Amino acid sequence: MTEFSFDALRRHPDVEAENLFAVDAADRLLLDEASAALEATIDEPGTVVVIGDAYGALTLGAAAVLGIGGIRVHQDSLSGELALAENARRFPGLDLSRRFRSLPLGPELLQGAKVVLLRLPRSLGELDDLARAIAAWADPAVEVYAGGRLKHMTTAMNEVLESAFDSVTATLARQKSRVLIARGRREGIGAALHHREFHDDLGLWVCATGGAFAGTKIDIGTRFLLPHLDAMKPDARGGSALAIDLGSGTGVLAAALARSRPELRVVATDQSAAAVASTRETLAANGLAGVEVVRDDALSGFDDASADLIVLNPPFHMGSTVYAGIALKLFEAAGRVLAPGGELWTVFNSHLSYRAALQRAVGPTRQVDRNTKFTVMVSTRR
Ligand SMILES: C[S@@+](CC[C@H](N)C(=O)[O-])C[C@H]1O[C@@H](n2cnc3c(N)ncnc32)[C@H](O)[C@@H]1O
Repeated sequence: MTEFSFDALRRHPDVEAENLFAVDAADRLLLDEASAALEATIDEPGTVVVIGDAYGALTLGAAAVLGIGGIRVHQDSLSGELALAENARRFPGLDLSRRFRSLPLGPELLQGAKVVLLRLPRSLGELDDLARAIAAWADPAVEVYAGGRLKHMTTAMNEVLESAFDSVTATLARQKSRVLIARGRREGIGAALHHREFHDDLGLWVCATGGAFAGTKIDIGTRFLLPHLDAMKPDARGGSALAIDLGSGTGVLAAALARSRPELRVVATDQSAAAVASTRETLAANGLAGVEVVRDDALSGFDDASADLIVLNPPFHMGSTVYAGIALKLFEAAGRVLAPGGELWTVFNSHLSYRAALQRAVGPTRQVDRNTKFTVMVSTRR
């Protein structure tokens, strides 16, 4: 394809379904509201930063429609990052892959940035991290265009932005979307603070960036799974027995497993950059820095039949969309990566009927524990 079209963008390799879209009205409004500021940077290449682009609409829209180059991009989700790269390749005539590069959240992403396009994250903690990072590292003249769907926006978001910028104004809403514009970054704002909490009952530090699931708390589903660690694949031992914490979040399960089962080689993996950073900090805080942590989408980098044990507290929403398909994708990944006889231990809301899907994706599935809220199941790879 030689002509850019938003309609050609896809979510792949993220889950695709009829009610899930790669572009939305907030992306289009953001590009429209920021177009004059973006065009003003044409003579200063490398001064535009995009944060939280879902699947590349913001980055590729700015590059293809407005002719912006040298765009620096940070996406928390690895599948979003891969989708951006794939979408850029859908228009070979436009050579869009050369117009941007993906970077972690840090000074290299933000130094010298004059315009930041930001898709508002779900959590205020994550927004606070991003606002502080922009205020700490971007150019003093930076303008932030932060957009989202009205149903996911609250006035508390304005307040978070106001703590890092002198002026925050809102555009008129269009197609149930709105953009907040922040200017005048405050001096002396430190970059993102990471939080930590010691849980006496578990004897465990939990560390979290603002974007990590459950923050420094222990999710109640996770708490329900923790007493079962010793019953998990008890015959797996020796340095070559591999246990994976799939979707590690802040790394609670990885840390607890590595501590209670030192005979296992534990690897923690998550597709979220915030989760991977939090997991690393949690492990280090508990003296378990030797546990490997990998940013990976649904075990894509793990060999077939290579693991003895996988623990999973699956997500049931993607971004702001509640969608059970993401859990199914992770069950299938676990089925592929477990060796015959290997076990997948999951915990989920009791109203979700995952047993049939677990049987299909992994093998025989048994309920181990259940209360009014949560169910723990173990599935054994055939
Ligand atoms: C419900 S949280 C559980 C976090 C942590 N294990 C705990 O128990 O507190 C689910 C985690 O799965 C991660 N996740 C979602 N999709 C994923 C994918 N495709 N591959 C790897 N991790 C994923 C999310 O980023 C999130 O951290």
